[in-house]
Amino acid sequence: MIELKQLSKQALSGQSRLTILHPLDLFIPAGQFAAILGPSGSGKSTLLGLMAGLDTPTTGEVILAGTSITRLGEDALAAFRSRTIGFVFQAFHLIPTATALENIQIPMEIAGRRDAKKRAKALLAAVGLSARGHHYPAQLSGGEQQRVAIARAFANEPPILLADEPTGNLDYANGMRIFELLRELNQSTGTTLVLVTHNEELARAADRAITLRDGRIVLDNPKLSIEPLPST
Ligand SMILES: Nc1ncnc2c1ncn2[C@@H]1O[C@H](COP(=O)(O)OP(=O)(O)OP(=O)(O)O)[C@@H](O)[C@H]1O
Ligand SMILES: [Mg+2]
Repeated sequence: MIELKQLSKQALSGQSRLTILHPLDLFIPAGQFAAILGPSGSGKSTLLGLMAGLDTPTTGEVILAGTSITRLGEDALAAFRSRTIGFVFQAFHLIPTATALENIQIPMEIAGRRDAKKRAKALLAAVGLSARGHHYPAQLSGGEQQRVAIARAFANEPPILLADEPTGNLDYANGMRIFELLRELNQSTGTTLVLVTHNEELARAADRAITLRDGRIVLDNPKLSIEPLPST
C-alpha cells in the first residue's frame, strides 16, 4: 500500500522556486499494478523518488505499508527501505565486478538471509537466466542485465516495487519481455508495483494508469480506455 498526502516538491533554480510537483494525494492499494505516464519533465521520476524515500518532499507525507517514512531518521529510513522497497532503474545499476548470481545474492546476504545463494539461483531461473549466473554484467545484453536487476529487486520479497522506465533502454521485444516479467512477478508475489513508462500500450496492461502533466495528476484511470474502432 502506498499513500501520498498533499505531497509536493519544489526546487530552487537561481533566485526563483520551481514547482516540480504540486500538492497531490494518491492511494495505491496493496497488490495493485499502477503505471505512471506523462511527458518528459512532468515529474514522474521525482514522484517515484519521493515514494522511495530517496528524496524529501517540500510538503506532505509518504506512507508505505502503514508507516509514514517522511519523519523517519536517516538510519531508520535506510533500514525500512531495504525491507520494504525494491527499485528498478532505467540504467540497470548492477555491480560490475560481481557476477549475475552475486548481484542477486548480495542484497539477501546483507539482509542476513541464510538461503541467499539458493534463492538467488531460483530467482535467476525465474528470469530465464540460469545459464548465465557466472557472467559479469558487461557480458550480458541490456535486456539480460535488466532481468538480473529485476531478480535482485525482488530478492528480499519487498511488498513494494518501484520501476522507473525499466524498458526505456531496451528494444521493443526486450522491453515487452521485461514488462511481462514485472507483471508476472506482481501477480505471483502480490507485490504492489508502480511502473513509470512513456509507453501507453504498456500502461494499458496495468491495473491503473496515472498521467502526470506539469507536476499534476491530470488523469487517473482504472484501465486506460481503448478507443473503439469507428464502425463503417
Ligand atoms: N533537483 C532539481 N532541481 C531543479 N529542477 C529539477 C530537479 N529535479 C528535477 N527537476 C525538474 O523537475 C521536472 C520534473 O523532472 P522529472 O525528472 O521528475 O521528470 P520526468 O517526468 O521523470 O521526465 P523524463 O520522462 O524525461 O524522465 C523537470 O523539469 C526537471 O528539470
Ligand atoms: Mg524520469
